[in-house]
Amino acid sequence: MNTLDTLFSRKSVRSYTGEQITAEELEVMLKSANAAPIGMGRYENIHITIIQNPDLLYKIDAAAAAMFNNPNIHPLYKAPTLILVSSKRPDPNNKSMENIAFSNAAIVAHNMVLAATELDLGACYIWGATAAISKKSDLIAELNLPENFIPCCAVALGKTDEKYSVREIPLNRITKNEIL
Ligand SMILES: Cc1cc2nc3c(=O)[nH]c(=O)nc-3n(C[C@H](O)[C@H](O)[C@H](O)COP(=O)(O)O)c2cc1C
Repeated sequence: MNTLDTLFSRKSVRSYTGEQITAEELEVMLKSANAAPIGMGRYENIHITIIQNPDLLYKIDAAAAAMFNNPNIHPLYKAPTLILVSSKRPDPNNKSMENIAFSNAAIVAHNMVLAATELDLGACYIWGATAAISKKSDLIAELNLPENFIPCCAVALGKTDEKYSVREIPLNRITKNEIL
């Protein structure tokens, strides 16, 4: 796919076959994450956690379902891989720079999602489960994050039977104003 076809084909995939991604595919994900731009080039402010342990995935899924008050849902969609993107905790004394932590994490996640699209892997941004993780100290402890890092967003990944094709993208989904 060329870049624009990848952008216009990308969609959130929420059904997975259960088959794990290969080591080569995971490497492409990591390379894509590392290719992301990071504010002021401070790559040390971002951390990635690859979660493929079924017990931990189950616990995160259950915590997110509980957060949504619905034990019957699976907010991780039974994806076999979750890549969590964490940022160094923003400096509370520098509020104007706070957003950079989340912007960095979102760009890293999006790079991986675009790469997954190119590889025909299913991928979905996961905010709900990230919020659920953040509320549970026992889950945070299991993630073994570097000190002072906070989970910001995540990408669910796995093989899927869904297909990607270029979509019609309306130009007015996002409001705009013009200053001419
Ligand atoms: C910041 C962010 C958080 C999201 N969190 C979730 C999530 O927790 N669960 C989910 O199923 N989709 C999540 N999504 C996917 C959006 O619902 C989806 O991108 C949007 O509805 C547009 O659909 P599309 O991705 O298929 O184009 C998230 C997307 C973004 C950008």
